[in-house]
Amino acid sequence: MAAKIPVEDLTQAQAKAELAMLAREIGAANLAYHQADDPEISDAEYDRLKARNSAIEARFPDLVRSDSPSLQVGAAPSEDFSRIKHSIPMLSLANGFEEEDITDFDERIRRFLNLPAGTSLTYTAEPKIDGLSLSIRYENGKLVQAATRGDGETGENVTANARTVDDIPATLEGAPEILEIRGEIYMSHEDFAGLNARQEEAGAKVFANPRNAAAGSLRQLDASVTKSRPLRFFAYAWGEVSEPLAQTQSGAIERMKELGFQTNPLMKTCVGPDDLISHYRTIENERAQLGYDIDGVVYKVDDLSLQSRLGFRSTTPRWAIAHKFSAERATTKIEAIEIQVGRTGALAPVARLTPVTVGGVVVSNATLHNADYIAGLDSKGNPIRDGRDIRVGDHVTVYRAGDVIPKIEDVDVTQRPAGSVPYEFPKTCPVCGSEVIREEGEAVHYCTGGLVCSAQAVEKLKHFVSRNALDIDGIGAKQVESFYGLGWISEPADIFQLRERYADDLLKLDRWGEKSVENLFRGIEERRTIELNRLIFGLGIRHTGEQAARLIARHYGSWTAFETAMEAARDHEGPEWEDLNAIDGVGPIMAASLVDFFHDAGNRAAVTRLIEQLDVQDVAAPSTDGSPIAGKTVVFTGTLERMTRAEAKARAETLGAKVSGSVSAKTDYVVAGPGAGSKEKKARDLGLEVLSEEEWLNLIG
Ligand code: IVH
Repeated sequence: MAAKIPVEDLTQAQAKAELAMLAREIGAANLAYHQADDPEISDAEYDRLKARNSAIEARFPDLVRSDSPSLQVGAAPSEDFSRIKHSIPMLSLANGFEEEDITDFDERIRRFLNLPAGTSLTYTAEPKIDGLSLSIRYENGKLVQAATRGDGETGENVTANARTVDDIPATLEGAPEILEIRGEIYMSHEDFAGLNARQEEAGAKVFANPRNAAAGSLRQLDASVTKSRPLRFFAYAWGEVSEPLAQTQSGAIERMKELGFQTNPLMKTCVGPDDLISHYRTIENERAQLGYDIDGVVYKVDDLSLQSRLGFRSTTPRWAIAHKFSAERATTKIEAIEIQVGRTGALAPVARLTPVTVGGVVVSNATLHNADYIAGLDSKGNPIRDGRDIRVGDHVTVYRAGDVIPKIEDVDVTQRPAGSVPYEFPKTCPVCGSEVIREEGEAVHYCTGGLVCSAQAVEKLKHFVSRNALDIDGIGAKQVESFYGLGWISEPADIFQLRERYADDLLKLDRWGEKSVENLFRGIEERRTIELNRLIFGLGIRHTGEQAARLIARHYGSWTAFETAMEAARDHEGPEWEDLNAIDGVGPIMAASLVDFFHDAGNRAAVTRLIEQLDVQDVAAPSTDGSPIAGKTVVFTGTLERMTRAEAKARAETLGAKVSGSVSAKTDYVVAGPGAGSKEKKARDLGLEVLSEEEWLNLIG
């Protein structure tokens, strides 16, 4: 590299060019370090670039770029925004693809509400905008806070950025005292093309699609960058409100429009599923002319009192569904079939494809699910793709639906190369060589290597530190692989002993400077105090996802209570077992997996070692202020006349009660309808309070 011109001698033009280059280089170094977890330059070199950048800026203040590295706080935005806990979680939507999914949705709702046959429900139908959701809080008509969805419970604080968006009013006239407006940030096709052209010219990042451009533009540390980006916003929902906006969904949207928000002009109220599907067709036909991306149509029950009776499943409302458009497709060739071993030991076959663009995104891998899928069979052994199998060298159609990993739709056997042979699924683990088994009735092959299998161990550790689990700053996939390879970590507890055991060795490694080592240890120390749900999820127990972990954490409240219950339920019977199964969102398969995990001596020992390193925080019971049944255990028996069992259970849980299937001395209330039998008798024998449905409704108000 040519020797650097002293800053004092730079001309204006040279300074401008060099600042652009520095912004690119430092930006790339940040990305490599923080997002790809793969630092490309030493800390010292990084510091030199930053210092040079600052010196030039000091001499030419007019040339400071909006994307200047000195305006950014080093890391990837996600870690640099403060967090905001949503007062009401930001949920996602269940998806439907076929018309049948929509008629089922309507039927499910009518059944849940016990509506007489023949009654039709009114819904709203509106485009599903392909952007990112945002919650904007107004207090006394003033914008006070804006947050991204994040994990649904906690989002990123993007208040300053949201204020720069034209579609978002800074003040509202005549709004409720507290009002959280929720909707979608998006970018139009035209603005997206213009932005990318400018980015390209400036040698900056070009975005893959409008959604990424919108997300990248909103999540900027420097709000002036957001301001320079053409973001738009549609309002379609709300969070906390001090008084209801209206009595219907459509009325609430109308109210938002009056308050000055953009609402989607294609929203319409529809009666019954046929009407919904007909509006879906209309929107589908207009899709290409809209000028912004949409990926389906959202249906919502119009009557808000019915919405509240319907309530929520763990992550989605019962009263809404997204009817997705069918996916985008392209044809390409299978270069190879590889097997990835996951943290549970599941062998996942992946197709390596000749890269192809599908709906604006370059696709080079597709999931092949399992051996049956490759062979052309579904989980019940029935043919899929008319029984056509998938082979290396095959020409295939791939499709993408939303953000999910691309899938293979079909194989063009007419183009199959001569001499091609069916794919043979490995009989031993490609990583550790242990035997591979497939259990009766299961589609998936598993490696039997357990902790011996380095792939499983490494994947478990990666999962443990990942964003939705322990979320340890400074340690990601790359670091886990490297520390594992060095023999420094083989189970989660080891991570918390890195400092004590390897602080000096770490400094001797390539690419680790004082600063990055310090960051790593700070990241680890910060997560010694950990929320119970993150810990449960982080253990990586099969079938126990993030949402389930949250429900379980909320149910047990503390690590000790949880662990004791798992221990007590080890034989898959007894009150603790039933209690676990009664958690809404925990099914028998998950329950068995949880209990068996703790029953395994190796797991128990590893968990004990981990807990010694941690301070696990208890979970406060959900706020059910003023609820007369918060914390109580309720059993429903017999027929209910005013609502369905499902609705009664959902209501009770919303009010903070536990609903159990069996009566015991721990039961607080038994609600008995006509036809109640042994449970009611047992309750009376135990001297428990037995309520009629009427009395129950009076109790809960
Ligand atoms: S309603 C409680 N309406 O879709 C449900 N969501 O898959 C609140 N989205 O996270 C969401 N357009 O980001 C709703 N018209 C619309 C939408 C919409 C796009 C997004 C939203 C949500 C995701 C769920």
